[in-house]
Amino acid sequence: MAKHLEGKNAVVTGAGRGIGRAVSLELARQGARVVVCDLGGSKSGEGADAGPAHQVVAEITKAGGTAIANGENVTDFAAAERIIKACVENFGRIDILVNCAGILRDRMTFNMTEQEWDAVTAVHLKGMFNMCRHASRLMREQKWGRIVSTTSDAWRGAPGQGNYSAAKGGMVSLTYTLAGELGKYNCTVNAIAPMAATRLTMDEDVKARFTRAFESGMMTREQYDDAVNMPGPEYVAPIVAYLCSEEGKIFNGKVIGVQGGRVAVYSKPFEIAGLYRNIKAEGAWTVESGEAGADPGGRPAEHHGLGHPVRRGAAQSDAGHGAVAGDRGTMKVAGLTGQRMRMTDRPAQSGHLGPSVRRSM
Ligand SMILES: NC(=O)c1ccc[n+]([C@@H]2O[C@H](COP(=O)([O-])OP(=O)(O)OC[C@H]3O[C@@H](n4cnc5c(N)ncnc54)[C@H](O)[C@@H]3O)[C@@H](O)[C@H]2O)c1
Repeated sequence: MAKHLEGKNAVVTGAGRGIGRAVSLELARQGARVVVCDLGGSKSGEGADAGPAHQVVAEITKAGGTAIANGENVTDFAAAERIIKACVENFGRIDILVNCAGILRDRMTFNMTEQEWDAVTAVHLKGMFNMCRHASRLMREQKWGRIVSTTSDAWRGAPGQGNYSAAKGGMVSLTYTLAGELGKYNCTVNAIAPMAATRLTMDEDVKARFTRAFESGMMTREQYDDAVNMPGPEYVAPIVAYLCSEEGKIFNGKVIGVQGGRVAVYSKPFEIAGLYRNIKAEGAWTVESGEAGADPGGRPAEHHGLGHPVRRGAAQSDAGHGAVAGDRGTMKVAGLTGQRMRMTDRPAQSGHLGPSVRRSM
């Protein structure tokens, strides 16, 4: 079978366990040389252990691939530079960066400590910045690069995970920004929002909670079976490898959901409705004009002397995803059609990830 990443060099963070491990194995299977970076701490980020990274290197080597272990901490700006340098010095250059390092310290925001906030945002968001900062300089110079970062569906808001969801949202914003900055240099920058059974998602406590929910009738048997048999990270890894390949260049600045057999592209937030006022002729909006025109449902008013609701077209939406059809005050998001997707900077050639790509808004 053809190898899609022959001759490429990759850094994967959080590569000792879970999704990062599966991604490292898959990149190596596809011919890439891999720097397996993992601090090896606990689920909440305490301690360090060189073991997991070395184990993954041993697995890759045993299968005939090339990899080196790295035990640095992605939260440290200088350490991040050393991780990228390890790739360049050992393999010649860096082509691929996959950010998978992650920890959890869940707590309702009103109870969260400063340390819980700082620790989680440092690994996910600052860690991504640190790694991308050093890698992207080199990718820009060589005019080829692939960056994939691991966000989460939590970026859309997740009660009990204020630190995590904010960091993941920041990672999405940074992905969009980097995609715009690097697209013209033949580099792509995307994020995945995975769901896979790892120590972060499927430990004994989580299983016990599902069991209690099933026994108290809050979950059907089918829902329970699906929950406790969540597909593993090996289903996520090939999608990441694809995004890192030459063929994956058609995706730039995208957030892609991956779980088991599901691959879904998220829309980029865009304005779905607006009221516009000629401020030169009519002056600024006032609190009173807002009261007269506001619709409690969040929809724009039709006519209350507030100006004229305008139609929004596909050109103003997310690269053709979900054109907004406006009709006076009421606007609705049209369904997605077709199987084509557009990059941020260039027109699409083909957007097929496979026959079962499902569109979601
Ligand atoms: N598993 C899921 O369903 C899921 C869902 C959404 C997002 N994610 C994200 O995917 C990524 C991987 O998660 P996972 O489920 O594989 O977790 P995991 O705990 O199995 O793996 C994370 C790895 O990151 C390493 N790590 C933590 N802090 C580090 C640091 N400062 N420097 C270097 N390495 C560090 C850990 O040692 C660990 O091996 C995380 O960013 C997570 O938030 C996972």
